[in-house]
Amino acid sequence: MSEKKQQVSRRQFLNYTLTGVGGFMAAGMLAPMLRMAVDPVLKTSSHGDLANVSLSVDDITDEPQRVDWKIDQVDGWYESEVTKTAWVYKDENDEILAFSPICKHLGCFVSWEGSEDFPDEFYCPCHGGRYYKDGTNVPGTPPLAPLDQFEQKVEDGMLFLGEAKEQGEA
Ligand code: FES
Repeated sequence: MSEKKQQVSRRQFLNYTLTGVGGFMAAGMLAPMLRMAVDPVLKTSSHGDLANVSLSVDDITDEPQRVDWKIDQVDGWYESEVTKTAWVYKDENDEILAFSPICKHLGCFVSWEGSEDFPDEFYCPCHGGRYYKDGTNVPGTPPLAPLDQFEQKVEDGMLFLGEAKEQGEA
């Protein structure tokens, strides 16, 4: 019975060893980089969560009131605290409405009764944009769409607001 001897040369041994160690070190360096690159994408973002805006439903009247609240916003790798604002009131059916103050013309800040000349309307000072109380844009003024409306829910008598969506958007 003949036994074929397989010999590994010193050169081959060094090649195997260095390739193995090099591969191990490369994997060790690449893994954290890969994780850093992919992790924020995989994380669930705070988008879509409804935040408690610290406003009791009992304190909401038929007069639009400005409500400010803060949320933690995760934008890819950047995390920040963002202040959000809504105009909130109850309509004649006691339904709560929460409108975005961002003008649909060029994005200026819209205020309730922001102009003495136009009572009972939202007013944008930038180009004289106007909206009726229900958020609909007044025809003949610069905005071409109604104010966005916040998703909302009421829990334990408190108002929670989420994303502002275009009116009519599901
Ligand atoms: S940005 Fe509001 S009217 Fe132009």
